[in-house]
Amino acid sequence: MTCGTNVDIGILIYIDMKRFLFFVFLMTCIVHQATLLGQSAIYDAHVIHHPVVGQKGMVSSQHFLATQVGLEILKKGGNAVDAAVAVGFSLAVVLPRAGNLGGGGFMIIHDAEHHRTLTLNYRETAAKKSYRDMYLDSDNNVDRRRIVASHLGVGVPGSVAGMVEALKKYGTMSLKDVLAPAIRLAEEGFEVTYELSEMLKRYKSRLSVWTETAKIFYKADGSFYEHGDILIQKDLAWSLKQIANHGAQAFYSGAIARRLVADMEEHGGLITMEDLSHYVVEEGEPVWGEYRGYQIASMPPPSSGGVHIIQMLNILEGYPIGYLGHNAAETLHLMTETMKLAYADRSEHLGDPNFWDVPVDGLISKAYADELRREISRYTTRPSGEIKAGHPGDYESQQTTQFTVIDSAGNVVTNTYTLNFSFGTGIVAKGTGILLNNEMDDFSAKPGEPNAFGLLGGEANAVQPGKRPLSSMSPTIVFKDGHPYFATGSPGGSRIITTVLQIILNIIDHHMNVAEATHAPRIHHQWYPDILFIEKGIGYDTQSLLRSRGHKINLKSVMGSTQTIMLKNGMLFGASDPRRTDGATLGF
Ligand code: GLY
Repeated sequence: MTCGTNVDIGILIYIDMKRFLFFVFLMTCIVHQATLLGQSAIYDAHVIHHPVVGQKGMVSSQHFLATQVGLEILKKGGNAVDAAVAVGFSLAVVLPRAGNLGGGGFMIIHDAEHHRTLTLNYRETAAKKSYRDMYLDSDNNVDRRRIVASHLGVGVPGSVAGMVEALKKYGTMSLKDVLAPAIRLAEEGFEVTYELSEMLKRYKSRLSVWTETAKIFYKADGSFYEHGDILIQKDLAWSLKQIANHGAQAFYSGAIARRLVADMEEHGGLITMEDLSHYVVEEGEPVWGEYRGYQIASMPPPSSGGVHIIQMLNILEGYPIGYLGHNAAETLHLMTETMKLAYADRSEHLGDPNFWDVPVDGLISKAYADELRREISRYTTRPSGEIKAGHPGDYESQQTTQFTVIDSAGNVVTNTYTLNFSFGTGIVAKGTGILLNNEMDDFSAKPGEPNAFGLLGGEANAVQPGKRPLSSMSPTIVFKDGHPYFATGSPGGSRIITTVLQIILNIIDHHMNVAEATHAPRIHHQWYPDILFIEKGIGYDTQSLLRSRGHKINLKSVMGSTQTIMLKNGMLFGASDPRRTDGATLGF
């Protein structure tokens, strides 16, 4: 009996061991398969990702210190605009690659009390002395260095004017109060993160050619700031204090302006005191669209984002996207064909509306979308060459940044601003601590030739004095039954538009929460180059189905860095994109 029991137990152990080994084998296969599928275990949309939850207010930005600053402002009773402006100034200190005083951007504000949604366009302008062919060399070729890494590449910055104007018109706090945290971070310093340390290492050759820049971002002996080191920016603190004490005029006609112009004169730049003092922020209306019963408010030209997000949504509305399935081959095929049509139109029709007649109504009309949809085959891809001629281009990395704020009254701010490249030109104007943009590269330096993002442009976007270069920045608010439902936006150059599109599709068609919508793997096609860019997590089988339809696929590590907040059932749900390690969403 005892012996029998021992045998039974032995058999049971043997069976359990077999089961256990089979289980181990099965799990190994699953893990292996997940790895083969491009780490889908990390990014796959079916993994549940939880959003940050809040009730009274929420801030989402690409750096946790800036997010904390915004949250403190909300807790003190500031509104969404107060918090957003404080975040904007703080990012200029803690996220020098994209946060800025020396760049420009777009803000969309929803004023809950007056039920009004408006845009602030504080995009850079071309200096008065600029001209159409200023970047062509003697052989009529574009001189890339001149446009991206010299004082000639700098557009008249708009960020300071944009932040100050937003606060003055729609905020409740003083400029001194919202600037105080940024001044403290610049003056007392902050801990360098792993991400910042890595970025400064990667960009050393570009940044260290400028003595003034090297002095700030590298140690006196030329060594690197490592994770945990304290970075102090005394000159930037001086500039921020000038703005706190004298307002935007410090930057546009006062002490900062004088230093900026002196730097321009010393290095052959074009920006004058007159350019700075004439800089204006433009307030306007968003471009509006309707998608499956939701209202989309996004940025109109000189951003191409809003127009093309709505155009693409109009085309995709004709397909059962939710039914076809998230990131299924057919869904991705239809999205890709749609993207190509939108980016082809972008190259031809989009520019600064003060200088070019942009056919916005036609581009966002449902009828035009119906016509374009008829050009799409469900089974084969259409080579870009058949849509419109062009040339393949380079593909650049992230540089812009997004922040989003919602307060307890339901006011919403979504803001995207940029220096163009990471750290812009890499030039810091002497004595200001301010990195200068290279936004002039968003113009078509030579119509028909691609810029750094491989984007093609035409006469609509040629350089002209006072003109704003075409942008892809797409801060967006989606409304449900007339009330803000979620607000989002992203960096990523030409990929911004398709990144925001996918956040909208993920939430509306695929019923994802904000965190799932953010984590899900992304794709991008911009007509030229004729390549479908995909992130890890689009499975091999899906990729081969896409290849069988004729798509040329290229794997990118990551695309975009969204900051999204949703208002639902009286609660706030937010998510910072995990593709950038320093981002954070905080609510209370
Ligand atoms: N500089 C990138 C953009 O504005 O689209």
